[in-house]
Amino acid sequence: MNITMKMTDAQDLIHLDKVFDMIFKENRNSLVAYKSKAELKTEFGNAQAGLLFIDGKLCGYSSFKIWQSCIEMMSLIVKKEFRNQGLGFQLRQFVLEKALKRFPEKMFLSLPNKNSINIVRKSGFVDLFKLALPLELRESCENCLEENDFPNCHCQALVFPSENQVYIQCLDYENLEDIDSLAKFYCEIWKESPWNEYFWEIESVKQDILAYRARENGVWLIAKFNGQIVGFMAYSFVNEELMKKIAGHDFLSSEFGNGQVAYSAELGIMQVKRLRGLGTALFTASIADMSAEGVSTILGRTKAPGMERILQTAGFYQMEVSHPNDPGRKYWKKTLSKQ
Ligand SMILES: CC(C)(COP(=O)(O)OP(=O)(O)OC[C@H]1O[C@@H](n2cnc3c(N)ncnc32)[C@H](O)[C@@H]1OP(=O)(O)O)[C@@H](O)C(=O)NCCC(=O)NCCS
Repeated sequence: MNITMKMTDAQDLIHLDKVFDMIFKENRNSLVAYKSKAELKTEFGNAQAGLLFIDGKLCGYSSFKIWQSCIEMMSLIVKKEFRNQGLGFQLRQFVLEKALKRFPEKMFLSLPNKNSINIVRKSGFVDLFKLALPLELRESCENCLEENDFPNCHCQALVFPSENQVYIQCLDYENLEDIDSLAKFYCEIWKESPWNEYFWEIESVKQDILAYRARENGVWLIAKFNGQIVGFMAYSFVNEELMKKIAGHDFLSSEFGNGQVAYSAELGIMQVKRLRGLGTALFTASIADMSAEGVSTILGRTKAPGMERILQTAGFYQMEVSHPNDPGRKYWKKTLSKQ
């Protein structure tokens, strides 16, 4: 079996109809995004597609799309009779390497289905928090049959952890390395003014992080950069009792009984990564998640000017309620409209 692979050029237009048919067939099963012949023609001309030939016959196709914010690796198809031989991985890897070389500064994303997710992981991609997808990619879901189910639709979101790219993940509670790094980072960040909290200890913070697992919709988001955690954000659903415990009083009890309430608890960004929109990005992703989960009220509290700015921009307003031992630390509230 003689296998060859190449990136497309103008001469490959003779294969366009065959590729169109391959996509069309899989698209009927909702497994691969539809592409028109005009789109394919542009893609072929820009060397954005890879073709796999077996003994000179076209048997596989994969491509990437150039977005403003990222490169999306997409459309991996191997003809049925040649599947389960590692050819899909070889072709995807071939196209990925070419694209990485051409766009070394870009973020690389992939939205694989259940058939290709293992291939994408094998190529080194890791989970991305789906609600942190760039808006232009999210908007491109518009024509998908499962658009109304987002984020619980069939595609998963993965990112290639390229050098010098920041990306957002949902903390995996089984990943002890990440939990350890997060706890260390957490202890450091609260030593800063205006918090001046020197009392946090790594082991107890780890337990506090893991305690979110037991909470309803308890989530820690983490931002990573060159393998290091550079930002975090935590939130969960709360009931009246839990809120009383968190607040140390019952002044927020009137917020309960009228839809689901969530508490937005922690947001921290490493100093060298501040003032670049990362805090806003984590916070925005958390709100999108809470909204998708049907939350009607989000509560938060702070006295940090940067956090106040983020809350204001996100449409929160400052309440009259504050922390009992720290009156400068005010509660903030946002009401989400039903979708
Ligand atoms: C608060 C914090 C998370 C902000 O993160 P960040 O990534 O720098 O925030 P962004 O870059 O998204 O900034 C969002 C807005 O806040 C403003 N801002 C950020 N830090 C600010 C500060 N210290 N003072 C005033 N405004 C600030 C930004 O200028 C930006 O304003 P804009 O919307 O007009 O452009 C970060 O400073 C931090 O981790 N601080 C230590 C931990 C902390 O206090 N967390 C809040 C706990 S409740």
